[in-house]
Amino acid sequence: MKCGLAFLLALLFLLGSVSGSFELLTTDSSLNVTTVSASPQATTPWLAPGATSWTEGDAVSQSFSNFSGSVDGQGTCQCSISLPDATFPADRVERLEFTAHILSQKFEKEFSKVKEYIQLLSIYEKKLLNLTVRVEVMEKDSISYTELDFELIKLEVKEMHKLVTQLKGSFVGSTVIIDKLEVEIRNMTLLVEKLETLDRNNVLSIRRQVLALKTKLKECEASKSELVPTMPPPPAPGSCSHGGVVNISSPSVIQLNWRGFSYKYGAWGRDYSPQQPERTLYWVAPLNTDGKLLEYYRLYNTLDDLLLYSHTQEYRIAYGQGGGTVAYNNSLYVNWYGSGNIAKINLNTNKVDINQRLPSAVYNNRFSYANVGWQDIDLAVDEQGLWVIHATEASTGNIVISKLNDTSLEVLNTWVTKQYKPSVSNAFIVCGVLYATRTLNTRAEEIFYYYDTNTGREGNLAITIRKMQETIQSINYHPFDQKLYVYNDGYLLTYDLIFLQKPQRTV
Ligand SMILES: *[C@@H]1O[C@H](CO)[C@@H](O)[C@H](O)[C@H]1NC(C)=O
Ligand SMILES: *[C@@H]1O[C@H](CO)[C@@H](O)[C@H](O)[C@H]1NC(C)=O
Ligand SMILES: *[C@@H]1O[C@H](CO)[C@@H](O)[C@H](O)[C@H]1NC(C)=O
Ligand SMILES: *[C@@H]1O[C@H](CO)[C@@H](O)[C@H](O)[C@H]1NC(C)=O
Ligand SMILES: *[C@@H]1O[C@H](CO)[C@@H](O)[C@H](O)[C@H]1NC(C)=O
Ligand SMILES: *[C@@H]1O[C@H](CO)[C@@H](O)[C@H](O)[C@H]1NC(C)=O
Ligand SMILES: *[C@@H]1O[C@H](CO)[C@@H](O)[C@H](O)[C@H]1NC(C)=O
Repeated sequence: MKCGLAFLLALLFLLGSVSGSFELLTTDSSLNVTTVSASPQATTPWLAPGATSWTEGDAVSQSFSNFSGSVDGQGTCQCSISLPDATFPADRVERLEFTAHILSQKFEKEFSKVKEYIQLLSIYEKKLLNLTVRVEVMEKDSISYTELDFELIKLEVKEMHKLVTQLKGSFVGSTVIIDKLEVEIRNMTLLVEKLETLDRNNVLSIRRQVLALKTKLKECEASKSELVPTMPPPPAPGSCSHGGVVNISSPSVIQLNWRGFSYKYGAWGRDYSPQQPERTLYWVAPLNTDGKLLEYYRLYNTLDDLLLYSHTQEYRIAYGQGGGTVAYNNSLYVNWYGSGNIAKINLNTNKVDINQRLPSAVYNNRFSYANVGWQDIDLAVDEQGLWVIHATEASTGNIVISKLNDTSLEVLNTWVTKQYKPSVSNAFIVCGVLYATRTLNTRAEEIFYYYDTNTGREGNLAITIRKMQETIQSINYHPFDQKLYVYNDGYLLTYDLIFLQKPQRTV
């Protein structure tokens, strides 16, 4: 980067040498003119004994004030002397002077151009230095680089590159320094691009989130140690030895869905495979912006991958409908587009294994949820397997709970509740108990209703759920980590469920 001064010096040197060689050229030409014009004008035969090696017919053109000789057919030595031009070649000198004048004019023009370039170059050199400093700061202190305008920097670098190319074009001769500058600029472009792609992944905001979460965790742990007796030990993962849901944690914001802010509708969760309950396969299925079509979903093998949007596996299906989707035992279960069908999609192959009608279930917004469309058929997973929460004409729009065979999608059992489906905002199932939510206000939902398929009992609850955005688009429960996975207007949230310690159910 310190090539500015060096470059200037080199340029001056270059100019010096150019002007030097220019003078030399003039002298040279004069000499050459003399030499060329010194053609033999007069030749005087002359005897020079001993000059035996000269033969007649040799080219005897020699320079001014020198002589040459030859031997003729009879062995006579002949010497010739070249005499200078009789007249001084004034016309040639004149022509030369004219050429020199033109050349010097040309040179003046070039020189002023070069001076201009030097000025520009020193400006750009300063700019480049400034940029380097800024990029270095960005590299070292990653916190500040989101605040920088990459577009501006890129524009500046591009401008400099253009100038350097122009400079190169107008210089004949050594361009080593300019070449170096060009490489540096190209390096800078690459670096800026690299930094930019890094930032696109929101790495920083995630890092900040993680930091905030860690701080929260520490605070939580500190307060926990004070409140040890009030915190019930959670039931064993996947276990139902508890008295049902009694409370819920505040939400953890995991991230914005991978398709972005405008994808407000959808669902997400973690696959529950009973044979590998600890499996950490996460799926994210934002709907298209129409709030209906499920076309693309992504899988992440770990929570870290999900957080960093890395190692993603993205798939397309044609088509699912609504946010009632769930994953169970390495298959995705979705309401098939425009129908009362449920499709089972293998998560290894993205192939539809089964696509089967759910008998008498209504669809296409006949009895969806309050404020959420296209979720007439809402699939659910709990400790006992695969369920579907829906409604029928016969149930007059009240919630019907069906237990499904996850292999054949056959209905194994059905419970009809007294809760009208379109008046609840969403629902999930834990240990065979359906929990339904309703909207309290823009900041809170409430688990207000339950139906226990184990006992056939139903009733009311009042568990407040804090939310980040206005609408809860979907809720999925994971039996192993006993968390709720909530799609909240494009944001992925999780909640920890808190259970009653002693089993109350008489099963
Ligand atoms: C002048 O003559 C020298 C020697 O013959 C030659 O190398 C040089 O190229 C000539 N210069 C011009 C301008 O003709
Ligand atoms: C003139 O001739 C001499 C001897 O032949 C030679 O050494 C010398 O270089 C010549 N000079 C020119 C200018 O040709
Ligand atoms: C670099 O340029 C920006 C604006 O062009 C200016 O605000 C800043 O002070 C400059 N930094 C240095 C180190 O010259
Ligand atoms: C440009 O980057 C390459 C590789 O990163 C490095 O080897 C080279 O020295 C850099 N050139 C300059 C002029 O900074
Ligand atoms: C539920 O949890 C919240 C905080 O997480 C707490 O403020 C509230 O008192 C709890 N409610 C019950 C009934 O335990
Ligand atoms: C889960 O899938 C595996 C392999 O596809 C199968 O062997 C197993 O029985 C399934 N488990 C359940 C609970 O459906
Ligand atoms: C589920 O369906 C499969 C295939 O039809 C069958 O083999 C299995 O026995 C069924 N499971 C139950 C619990 O009905």
